[in-house]
Amino acid sequence: MIRRDFLRGGAALALSALAVRPALSAVPTPFTFDMAPPMTDGKAFVDWMAKQRGEDPAYLLKRWQRYEVLVANKDVRDDRNKRAFLLTPRERFVTRPNLPRAYDNAFLDIGYGVTISGPHLVGRMTTTIDVQQGHKVLEVGTGSGYQSAYLSHLTDQVHTIEIIKPLAERTRGVYDQLISEGYNEFKAISTKNADGYYGWEEAGPFDRIIVTCGIDHVPPPLLKQLKPDGIMVIPVGPPGAQHVLKVTKTQGADGQFTVARSDIYNGRVVPFVPFTKLEGDVIKGTHNGG
Ligand SMILES: C[S@@+](CC[C@H](N)C(=O)[O-])C[C@H]1O[C@@H](n2cnc3c(N)ncnc32)[C@H](O)[C@@H]1O
Repeated sequence: MIRRDFLRGGAALALSALAVRPALSAVPTPFTFDMAPPMTDGKAFVDWMAKQRGEDPAYLLKRWQRYEVLVANKDVRDDRNKRAFLLTPRERFVTRPNLPRAYDNAFLDIGYGVTISGPHLVGRMTTTIDVQQGHKVLEVGTGSGYQSAYLSHLTDQVHTIEIIKPLAERTRGVYDQLISEGYNEFKAISTKNADGYYGWEEAGPFDRIIVTCGIDHVPPPLLKQLKPDGIMVIPVGPPGAQHVLKVTKTQGADGQFTVARSDIYNGRVVPFVPFTKLEGDVIKGTHNGG
């Protein structure tokens, strides 16, 4: 049964456009950080996940096939990220028309003029920030909710901000639906509808920050809310032609901060949706130019 009682009007309608399906049963085995799906044998993985997590073997097979390419491509490199990818049901975060393409190597439309990032990009950006269990992580650009769902398999403190109000409400509804089915790991995700340029000061500082919309500079409030020795990954560059940067902040013995940047794709341009700006209640333009 799809729970809609917690949603009002527009958000309930928007949710119906998603690939939300009635749960066949509650998730048989709740998530724990020592949960260990098979990671070297596709059939063992599909069988294990169908039994432990109650997911559809057809999607599990596609998830496995995409996983093999991600590993070969070195987009996911450590066991924690491999496991996080394998445990995240991407098919629950795409829109119904895109269900057949849920595991394609592509970004997909999710409505409101924005997209769910492709699985290779999500894997590489998340692997770059090296999230450890217990880390406090901020995501700017919740979108479909897939990125934060993946993060919740790495740490139990995930904060995510989305600027488009009906999208933020719809994605909150997706998490609530999945939690009601037994995906207890998604309880770790705190959501907020706001302009993420200013971060989430009350929840910070953060060990890790991941930005999923493109901008021409690193927002100073985000850098401020990053802890010493923290890592941020952010697409920086002109509209539609960003470079995905790893930004590290270190504090010297003299108390001074040093910021280092490197391009996680060695110069390759990766286009992102724009880092937009909220003026009052209205989204108007972008934060490019400061
Ligand atoms: C590539 S999309 C979503 C990717 C997302 N992480 C996912 O897994 O689906 C980027 C998102 O950033 C959001 N966004 C753009 N500017 C923003 C801002 N100033 N604050 C918060 N979110 C913003 C967009 O509305 C969009 O949903």
